[in-house]
Amino acid sequence: MRATAAVLLVLCLLALSHAWDCQEVVNIKNLMQIDAGLGQVVATDTSQIPYYLVGDEWIRLPGSLKHITVGPAGIWGVNKEDSIYKYVAGNWVQAAGLLKQLDAGGNQFMVGVNMDDTPFCLTSSATVGYKGPGSPTSWTRLPGAVKYYSCGPFGCWAVNKNDDIFLMILNQDCQNKGWSHIDGKLSMIEVATDGSVFGVNSSGDVFTRDGITASKPEGTGWRKVPMFLRMKHVTYDLEHLWVVSKSAVTMVCTP
Ligand SMILES: *[C@@H]1O[C@H](CO)[C@@H](O)[C@H](O)[C@H]1NC(C)=O
Repeated sequence: MRATAAVLLVLCLLALSHAWDCQEVVNIKNLMQIDAGLGQVVATDTSQIPYYLVGDEWIRLPGSLKHITVGPAGIWGVNKEDSIYKYVAGNWVQAAGLLKQLDAGGNQFMVGVNMDDTPFCLTSSATVGYKGPGSPTSWTRLPGAVKYYSCGPFGCWAVNKNDDIFLMILNQDCQNKGWSHIDGKLSMIEVATDGSVFGVNSSGDVFTRDGITASKPEGTGWRKVPMFLRMKHVTYDLEHLWVVSKSAVTMVCTP
């Protein structure tokens, strides 16, 4: 009976999300968050176990993390005490600082936010060369207050505690000209390695930003991505849109 219901649900998902073809990812349960970048996919679950996708198997990584990210800056994560780690030679090495969320998607630099929603940036020379305690790490404090922060090749996007959306252009040395406000409301936002931007609002609707280019990093407007479930998390890389529903179902969608 339950299997029939599940099959019907998947059929409905396939039928209703006509813009994207979505399949349930059946061999991972209770994901908290996913990050896809540079062809790789990493995730954490609600028990704070980190995973790396190989074939269709979710390989358990060592340690315990509440947020993980992969991108040009490497693989990085934070644990429940907000301690920061980089993945080096198959293990986690700690880096100075405390962050609740971070993102390795920028041009080899990294961004993150701390428990007070203060945003920080780590230069490309610090991220790429980081080998463990002893390597230089000096976080640059950025202006403003945001709760979730993600970078791509054309800029960094963030949302604040009121779900307002902001864009900042940063160079590899973390230099920037501050935030520009973008229309709309989102509760989380992720920028892909190709520069596309996806987010979810607090009701669980998924959106993508149209018209993003190097010369127009703010794009032109939000477009709803039809989904049958209410989503809490989204990430996109190389024509794979990964979504985690509020009910903790993970799906992967292709255009
Ligand atoms: C989320 O997006 C949907 C679709 O545009 C909209 O109807 C809803 O009001 C939005 N929710 C919030 C909290 O903004």
